[in-house]
Amino acid sequence: MSKGKILLTGAAGYIGSHTWVELCNAGYEVVGVDNFYNSERDVVERIEKILGRPVLFEETDCSCPESFGKVFQKHQDIVGAVHFAACKAVGESIEKPLMYYRNNIVSLLNLITLMKDKALKANIVFSSSCTVYGQPDKEHLPIAENAPLKRSLSPYGKSKQMAEEILSDSVVAYPQMKVCALRYFNPIGAHPSALIGELPRGVPQNLVPFVTQTAAGIRDHLNVFGNDYNTPDGSCIRDYIYVVDLAKAHVKAIDKLLSNCISKAEDEPTYTEAAKTGRWFIYNLGTGKGLSVLELVNGFIKATGVDLPYQIAPRRQGDIEQVWADPKKAELELGWKADTPIEDVLRSAWNWQKTLK
Ligand code: NAD
Ligand code: WQD
Repeated sequence: MSKGKILLTGAAGYIGSHTWVELCNAGYEVVGVDNFYNSERDVVERIEKILGRPVLFEETDCSCPESFGKVFQKHQDIVGAVHFAACKAVGESIEKPLMYYRNNIVSLLNLITLMKDKALKANIVFSSSCTVYGQPDKEHLPIAENAPLKRSLSPYGKSKQMAEEILSDSVVAYPQMKVCALRYFNPIGAHPSALIGELPRGVPQNLVPFVTQTAAGIRDHLNVFGNDYNTPDGSCIRDYIYVVDLAKAHVKAIDKLLSNCISKAEDEPTYTEAAKTGRWFIYNLGTGKGLSVLELVNGFIKATGVDLPYQIAPRRQGDIEQVWADPKKAELELGWKADTPIEDVLRSAWNWQKTLK
């Protein structure tokens, strides 16, 4: 018997597709929604191949209230939503701020409105980002959920900060609503089946897709952006988290929201009014370990045995020097931990890349 029907927006995307598989594996029925703005149609068939059964999918633009509303009319038994649908490229958001605000904010407003109006069980898991912390002060590393949020420099980052504000205000206003905001660090890797993974359009901006494309000969060499940072080897430090581990955290978050639990306000130090309701949860999702760019590059070479030409390049504008998560709260309250060894994660990214050649 199904544990309940979950709406998954942005379901064909990188993190959405992996979460789809894990929610189904955990016994949930999933309705996937996507407009394929940044994903391929065949992802849905690939999910079916992994699961060995047909799935429910609605091609819909979440920023359009009419078509998004039809999904809710058709699936009145939805008991919760995981909201991934958004545009996510930091650089592009600076060039196209209105597109980012329209898509990321309007889609979220529509989701909240529809969940509340239809008197559904208004349980929402939201894809937030470590970008809300900006460059943390050294004393806040590793970053816990109560670290100060810094004003984001990009419309993308601001859209995540605004989204958290909108959700926390909604929790205060609508007593049936429960929200879990998950702040992801740097998701990498691909499903062990190599049937789904990250599909960057054009030249990848993120490190791991650039690494795998370089290893595959699609790019000449990798530029390591800066080796003069105040870090042990001079390159930037991040918390790289395996996308399948990350997907499993969403299952735990939905389990928690559906379990009628309430949080203790003192555990939710930000957005106090929302915290007082006991229906507002924030978790950092990372491994708790920082890895430098050079460590990741060398780790990739070691894990795959593949040559990876790279050179040191100037710093990338706007880059944060170092950031990694304190994931203790997620471990304690969700019973979740990211524990896949980095070598396995990097091999999974390479195995996925080889299918794209
Ligand atoms: P992605 O682009 O691979 O997936 C997003 C999916 O949403 C795509 O399939 C896209 O077609 C779909 N989409 C976008 N707008 C839509 C709309 N209006 N209606 C329906 N579908 C729409 O991105 P991802 O890496 O899987 O990220 C998923 C979520 O996680 C995003 O909200 C992103 O901001 C957040 N996030 C991602 C990262 C990361 O590094 N990948 C880190 C932190 C947070
Ligand atoms: C990682 C490190 C680069 C490419 C971005 C978003 C953030 C979040 C996660 C969504 C940095 C270095 C990269 C390359 C390199 N997304 N690098 N050569 O910058 O941590 O964060 O994705 O919420 O909002 O900004 O990730 O993968 O771009 O970079 O040396 O060709 O790799 O300088 O130190 P980042 P990234």
